[in-house]
Amino acid sequence: MTAYEYETHEYDVVVVGAGGAGLRATLGMAEQGLRTACVTKVFPTRSHTVAAQGGIAASLSNMGPDHWQWHMYDTVKGSDWLGDTDAMEYLAREAPKAVYELEHYGVPFSRTEEGKIYQRPFGGHTTEFGDGPPVQRTCAAADRTGHAILHTLYGQSLKNNAEFYIEYFAIDLLMSDDGRCTGVVCWKLDDGTMHVFNAKMVVLATGGYGRAYFSATSAHTCTGDGGGMVARAGLPLQDMEFVQFHPTGIYGSGCLITEGARGEGGYLTNSEGERFMERYAPNYKDLAPRDYVSRSMTLEIREGRGVGAESDHIHLNLSHLPKEALAERLPGISESAKIFAGVDVTKEPIPVLPTVHYNMGGIPTNYWGEVLNPSKDDQNAVVPGLMAVGEAGCASVHGANRLGSNSLIDLVVFGRAAAIRAGKVVDPESAIPETNTASVDKAFDRFDSLRNAKGTVPTAELRLEMQKTMQADAAVFRTAKTMKDGLEKMGAIAAKLDDLHVTDRSLVWNSDLMETLELTNLMPNALATIAGAEARKESRGAHAHEDHGERDDTNWRVHTIARVDGAETQLSYRPVLTDPLTTEKEGGIAVTKIAPKERTF
Ligand code: FUM
Repeated sequence: MTAYEYETHEYDVVVVGAGGAGLRATLGMAEQGLRTACVTKVFPTRSHTVAAQGGIAASLSNMGPDHWQWHMYDTVKGSDWLGDTDAMEYLAREAPKAVYELEHYGVPFSRTEEGKIYQRPFGGHTTEFGDGPPVQRTCAAADRTGHAILHTLYGQSLKNNAEFYIEYFAIDLLMSDDGRCTGVVCWKLDDGTMHVFNAKMVVLATGGYGRAYFSATSAHTCTGDGGGMVARAGLPLQDMEFVQFHPTGIYGSGCLITEGARGEGGYLTNSEGERFMERYAPNYKDLAPRDYVSRSMTLEIREGRGVGAESDHIHLNLSHLPKEALAERLPGISESAKIFAGVDVTKEPIPVLPTVHYNMGGIPTNYWGEVLNPSKDDQNAVVPGLMAVGEAGCASVHGANRLGSNSLIDLVVFGRAAAIRAGKVVDPESAIPETNTASVDKAFDRFDSLRNAKGTVPTAELRLEMQKTMQADAAVFRTAKTMKDGLEKMGAIAAKLDDLHVTDRSLVWNSDLMETLELTNLMPNALATIAGAEARKESRGAHAHEDHGERDDTNWRVHTIARVDGAETQLSYRPVLTDPLTTEKEGGIAVTKIAPKERTF
């Protein structure tokens, strides 16, 4: 029996995380009259979605012809044929509806002359099933689109009586013996009280785990908390080896410069002033997908054509763009470039470098957001009472590589889908699960042992060791040797979690303890990443294996399923879903299976 006293809360649904996906799920649940709580470790409008800049993809056709089937095709090709077709179809088909809903909720999108939602080009988004020119599909609110969406969704959630538990840190899931999730245990950071939330449905919307790496565009709060809790509950993670590097993180700080900068006409140059993307991607140039551009930049640097005193980065040029366009469309990154690189974008290029940006992998789900626990008998077995959405989840809609601006649309389409599904499977009249005391005790035992950890390794030191190892050994390009070394090193690093030293034993605003809990969440995510990468003997999307340079659809068009237990990771595989949801024609275009082919731009 735990020594910690706790307050018990009862809800139909508890959403963990208040970024775009968490808030869209919260809003959708509350709108249907489900008693909904959203617990979040940061104030909702400080969630990492606030940093999303360039926009949200949807085939609105405001700036020229577009079709959702073209969007779906681009997403399939962008995923390097690892995404699940049902999820990719659902995303592209539902995207316009989801964006118009946002507009009606009050998102202040930028406008065209005729008052329509403004859309800009983004990498990998094309016309005519990849045969036509780039399309303007990315709906934008200047370069602060995530900020606009987050504030609107928070306001709407409050209006619909969702209840917020702000600065509550989720410690662990409550799981029944028969594998149902029945709630979550939380620590209230500002007063040290403990809380048990019993719920019929828990939705994990905890974001990605960019902070497993040394240099990331992600906020310091992106610590894979959902993945950590799921791994400790004995559930798997999927496709974790696919980590996206955004081509334009500011050199040094890693701060994001939106792809919208290239969408508005910016371009990359090497030390010779050459627009080198013309060589690598003759058709789409700087607007090729991110994996492609990041690899091209890395090759330029490797071959001695990097810029700067150490020839170790690349230039992003915007100074040829009209000053008014920069002020109207790219005000945020103009400011970031000034603050973080000391650059006036109207006069000088921005120094940039591919920087860890996004996790394609995550907690496996179907396209309704229901968490899967695949087994030999049932590859699509659902975990009752548990959903995952947004970057925490893996539907798998991005496969091996996500297209820019498909993240914000993923958040709202699948946050909304989770709410639609919960409306069907959560019965407001049924009883809320009773407190699972064994599971509560286990969560508090783990919390307490970390709070009183008296080992020799400070949290910050171990975190840095993990981050440097991941940065070096699971990078843009990977070799059999780097990944084997990385796997060994990460095993040893994870084992040191048993030797942690926490200095502050208090319960109020104890950032030492919170960062330690976060480290225990980052670690299983990092282990699954390096183990999945080491095992995958091909190159696909963001996984560029130098000893296996080709994509191998015969052996490797499969999802990696990773089960992490302590420092050990067990891998298995499940098939990619290749059937579309529908086959009838819409707008004169039928959806078909999209057969793999060579991915050129
Ligand atoms: O470049 C960007 O604005 C980032 C967008 C995204 O990751 O989707």
